[in-house]
Amino acid sequence: MSTPQLEAFIKEIESVTREYVQPADIVLEASPLMFDLLEHVGEFLQPNHTQACDEHYARNQVYASADGSISLFVMVWNPGQWTPVHDHGTWGLVGVVKGALQERNFIRTDPREREDSGIILRRGGVTLLGAGSVATFVPNPDHIHRTGVPRDWRQTVTLHLYGRHMNNYNVYDFELGRRTPVDVPSDTTV
Ligand SMILES: [Fe+2]
Repeated sequence: MSTPQLEAFIKEIESVTREYVQPADIVLEASPLMFDLLEHVGEFLQPNHTQACDEHYARNQVYASADGSISLFVMVWNPGQWTPVHDHGTWGLVGVVKGALQERNFIRTDPREREDSGIILRRGGVTLLGAGSVATFVPNPDHIHRTGVPRDWRQTVTLHLYGRHMNNYNVYDFELGRRTPVDVPSDTTV
């Protein structure tokens, strides 16, 4: 991380997380900052930030705070690349740099919020996020979704800010009603 735009963004986000505790307040305050950052994205994105991967969507880490409280990734989605159904265990913001991202939402309808089995998921709505859009989520209860780019769309680049180092998340088995923690290492750390 080296550009003034990105450094200023991180400082502002850290100021928000010092001032607010509730995830819903953090994303409320942070979402305009992500929205503005998208306007300047060409000024800080480097070629290694936007490297794609043939096998799966690429997660290129741009920043991770020393105290583990936030992390920022650029993700590159070739057509047909998707996450599994997952939650994040924290708040987060997604901004679309180019292309369009599809989000398929799931709703947990069993009465428990935290157990890892006996999960009953229902399919929820779909969100299509175009360039310049910002979406947010909070873990109260867990936000469950899968995101990706359909086969007949074009390559998409997105920015993801999380309220922790995002090196693992819970992956859901829709049929078996289970979720399992899975490591999600970065493709590139820059
Ligand atoms: Fe996600």
